[in-house]
Amino acid sequence: MARPQLKFVCQECGSAQSKWMGQCPDCGAWNSLQQEAVAAATPFAQKHGLKAGGRLLDLQALDARIELPRRLSTGFGELDRALGGGLVPGSAVLIGGDPGIGKSTLLLQTAGRMARSGQAVTYISGEEAADQVRLRALRLGLADAPVKLAAATSVRDILTTLGAGPPPALLVIDSIQTMHSDQLEGAPGTVSQVRAASLELIGWAKESGAAVILVGHVTKDGQIAGPRVLEHMVDAVLYFEGDGRHQYRVLRAVKNRFGGTDEIGVFAMEADGLAEVPNPSSLFLTERDKAVAGAVVFPALEGTRPVLVELQALTVRLPSGATPRRAVVGWDGSRLAMLLAVLEARAGLAFGGSEVYLNVAGGLRVVDPAADLAVAAALVSAQLDVPVPADMVAFGEIALSGEVRGGAHAALRLKEAEKLGFRRAIAADGTKGLGRLAITPVKTVRALVDRIRASA
Ligand code: TYD
Ligand code: MG
Repeated sequence: MARPQLKFVCQECGSAQSKWMGQCPDCGAWNSLQQEAVAAATPFAQKHGLKAGGRLLDLQALDARIELPRRLSTGFGELDRALGGGLVPGSAVLIGGDPGIGKSTLLLQTAGRMARSGQAVTYISGEEAADQVRLRALRLGLADAPVKLAAATSVRDILTTLGAGPPPALLVIDSIQTMHSDQLEGAPGTVSQVRAASLELIGWAKESGAAVILVGHVTKDGQIAGPRVLEHMVDAVLYFEGDGRHQYRVLRAVKNRFGGTDEIGVFAMEADGLAEVPNPSSLFLTERDKAVAGAVVFPALEGTRPVLVELQALTVRLPSGATPRRAVVGWDGSRLAMLLAVLEARAGLAFGGSEVYLNVAGGLRVVDPAADLAVAAALVSAQLDVPVPADMVAFGEIALSGEVRGGAHAALRLKEAEKLGFRRAIAADGTKGLGRLAITPVKTVRALVDRIRASA
């Protein structure tokens, strides 16, 4: 019989080469060629292709009765919310985040809470020795929680142990990068090891009906190590983010087969572990009685939840000839550059000779596109040195033409702002006021600049 022919297929663009190369000659991607066998066709396959010889599928209507997945509460309302209502049995969840952000703390607390509520929980630590985990549990006041703990890295040992008894409701693997499958060569943490170990653990979860949470460290460029391989394999991906210098941590869903994405859970890291922040709006606002130039409150929408955050802009005029800096914390730097260009081109407000700093107070990262107008208001207020009133919020999107468009879910944003005592909102023309909160409509960035200038 003829040996199957080999070819090398670029995993980025799909082009095939007869020999391995470091760079794909077609799309230029590096290290993207993988060996694939070219199967020799059997006489049956040559005659029928894929049109015959298969099993008949049972085709069903879309309205077929289905049972909504049962959910398990994790004991943390904020984690349940980010998961879309709790853990789904048999599902796999990946929790990614920078080292030291609090993933192990969150999951040990979750394990403890679920175990205390009567669920069987197994916690496998591949990074810390069992004693270290116990010490942490002691600090968190969880030493008496009936969690089953082991320090292990061999997937075979773990699955053998799990197979010896009834499956737990939750299995925590901390972290997937330390796990090792002995079916493959290669050190733990390599793409093939991470993929193989995850496949086995996820397969076990589906079979046994246990939920599995995998911890994944994020590499410098912000991806979960193992070039995103993991994100495709699991049912939900949550990122635990925050600024190491701040107390607040945000758990953000970026993928969820059983719920909405962009839901967030908010936590605060305290001396005795993570505490939930069920009402985060007031938390990102700094205390102030007097309006300050450059500070504007933005009613952000994170998933379905409104969160008020304070944006702070500072501009400093430089002597001519010096190259001005632009620095952003908590927002997209290229978006800032774009807004500065729009303000200059459409409203005649030049920032060319000024350094520009933008900061989102409290360490939150804002991704809501309606932040444009609030950022623009903060920039204009800083540049003109005219404060925006302290009881005013701003939201809306800005187009390159300088036009202001309404942000999604205006009513939700306004309701939250009204609840926290705000009485005015700068928003796109046509936005309806709500309760005691009146709208200051602006059609363009030029109108925004005129408004702020006029209030001086
Ligand atoms: P950790 O959960 O180990 O992070 P990860 O698993 O994501 O690497 O969190 C470590 C940090 O959290 C560490 O810098 C100390 C801090 N921390 C507290 O502030 N309070 C606590 O109760 C605990 C357990 C940790
Ligand atoms: Mg850890």
